[in-house]
Amino acid sequence: MSSNVSSHIDPIEGDFHLTNYQKTHDNFSWEDAKKLLSYGKTGKLNAAYETIDRHVDEGYGEKIALHYVDENGTKSLTFREVKAETDKYAQILKENGVKKGDRVFVFLPKTAECYIAILSVIKVGAIAGPLFEAFMEDAIKDRINDCTGSLLITDHELVKRVPQADIPSLETILYVEDIAKEDRTGNHGNELVEWVDPEDGLIIHYTSGSTGKPKGVLHAHRSTVHHIVTGKWVLDIHDEDVYWCTSHPGWVTGSVYGLFAPWLNRATIVIQGGRFKAENWYQLMEDLKVTIWYSAPTAFRMLMSQGDLHEKYDLSSLRHVLSVGEPLNPEVITWAHKKLQVRIHDTWWMTETGGHLIVNLPSEKIKPGSMGRAFPGIEVGILNANGEKLPAGEVGQLAVKAPWPGLMKEIWGNEDKFKSYFIYEGWYISGDLAYQDEEGHVFFQGRSDDMINSAGERIGPFEVESKLIEHPAVAEAGVVGKPDEVRGEIVKAFITLRPGFLASDNLKEEIRLFVRKNLSAHAAPREIEIVEDLPKTKISGKILRRQLKALEVEKQAVKS
Ligand code: WT7
Repeated sequence: MSSNVSSHIDPIEGDFHLTNYQKTHDNFSWEDAKKLLSYGKTGKLNAAYETIDRHVDEGYGEKIALHYVDENGTKSLTFREVKAETDKYAQILKENGVKKGDRVFVFLPKTAECYIAILSVIKVGAIAGPLFEAFMEDAIKDRINDCTGSLLITDHELVKRVPQADIPSLETILYVEDIAKEDRTGNHGNELVEWVDPEDGLIIHYTSGSTGKPKGVLHAHRSTVHHIVTGKWVLDIHDEDVYWCTSHPGWVTGSVYGLFAPWLNRATIVIQGGRFKAENWYQLMEDLKVTIWYSAPTAFRMLMSQGDLHEKYDLSSLRHVLSVGEPLNPEVITWAHKKLQVRIHDTWWMTETGGHLIVNLPSEKIKPGSMGRAFPGIEVGILNANGEKLPAGEVGQLAVKAPWPGLMKEIWGNEDKFKSYFIYEGWYISGDLAYQDEEGHVFFQGRSDDMINSAGERIGPFEVESKLIEHPAVAEAGVVGKPDEVRGEIVKAFITLRPGFLASDNLKEEIRLFVRKNLSAHAAPREIEIVEDLPKTKISGKILRRQLKALEVEKQAVKS
């Protein structure tokens, strides 16, 4: 099987002069990359130190580190101020007994405090567990319990969603409002920094697969090497840049490319609270003169659907735009190129990979429809079912030669799951299907499992199904991704009812809200269909999601 999705669209040429990228594709070495960090000299490091404090030590303390934007306006902090704040938080963590290796969760909206809290946890050598702000009780409970988190930093509002009685390991809750009231000087030199080994735990992100509960993907401090290098070459950060990543640090894009990579490269970052609104987003880019912008296809499609709205804003500062998380349609690339005069650079990676692996470097041509090419030092393979490399044009499993600096260290408490990514000697298996062309450009062709990708967010059907059947009316549930023009996919649930319950729109809405309230808004089914039976395998009686999905795709094809 082979395809040529984009052959009708002309490639867009790159601009070598605007970029940091040097022609090192052939002699690239991660060892050289380490020299950008103190780790290259001493063998020890601390990602929080490298990210913020190092810049103060190197004389950039007065540079603006962040602009925080909300409905009340913009608040800005320098690197010195961010360091002082992380020192203050770090001191409080230490006073509360936090030690190296402890899991400390951060459950906050997208505010400066969220970034500062995460860094302070890392500074004292603990493992940061950032939680997405939309999570509800069960999502929070499952995650903290899984890795026995001992401390949580949150606020007086979000704490209402934390079921403390069901999280036995949780000894302490700290509130940002209380920390703000504490008057201490944060000028601490480096004495609060816990110097750790490259293999020590840095951050844990929970992510869904097609079966079971979310898994804790643990990353190590060595990832810093991957973050600084891709920040320099893929994000193309220069000293005068104003960088905005729209993801929340509870997702890996928001931590790696919202916090670590830009700050390791000393960028001024933008932190914007609140939900998507086209007017606010364009206004923010104009007001703060954003130069680099990292977002997702769903957001671009939403902007594209606003017609000529962009003409009301001065977006001339925008130099470099990047995309991640879901397939980027060629139409969107063409729209942005024509209307916003920017190229959108797709990037491919996963929570598990800890950093970019397939990219469109600013200096290289973009082939709309392709995710880009392997980052220098990375080898991509398209494998058949025997783990053998397939030739150009053939669709197979997208795999990457392991290891590389950002690769996850482990899946928390689940060695079998960790091993399942490495079933072919030397390769990491992504679960994505793809083909590569003669020039090495990789074309995404879907997932090989049942994972759902809605608006760039990864949703495990099992987690949603488990929640659905907790509702008294639901007997069985099968959850799939239904193709959707704006969101890529939406969560669609097929359910059967228990005896005594009658199908109605009210009941469907009640069930939808039940998932929303207990799990999270992003995972709640947008559509529920009540059916008589669900298709099942003959022998084990497992629900056949694939068949449900095929039905949905077929329905759509008939419609269009
Ligand atoms: C899955 C990973 C860490 C990045 C954010 C999502 C899909 C990711 C692309 C892309 C098409 C993409 C894949 C992948 N995906 N980037 N550029 N084009 N699909 O991380 O939540 O761990 O999800 O997102 O299916 O396996 P994630």
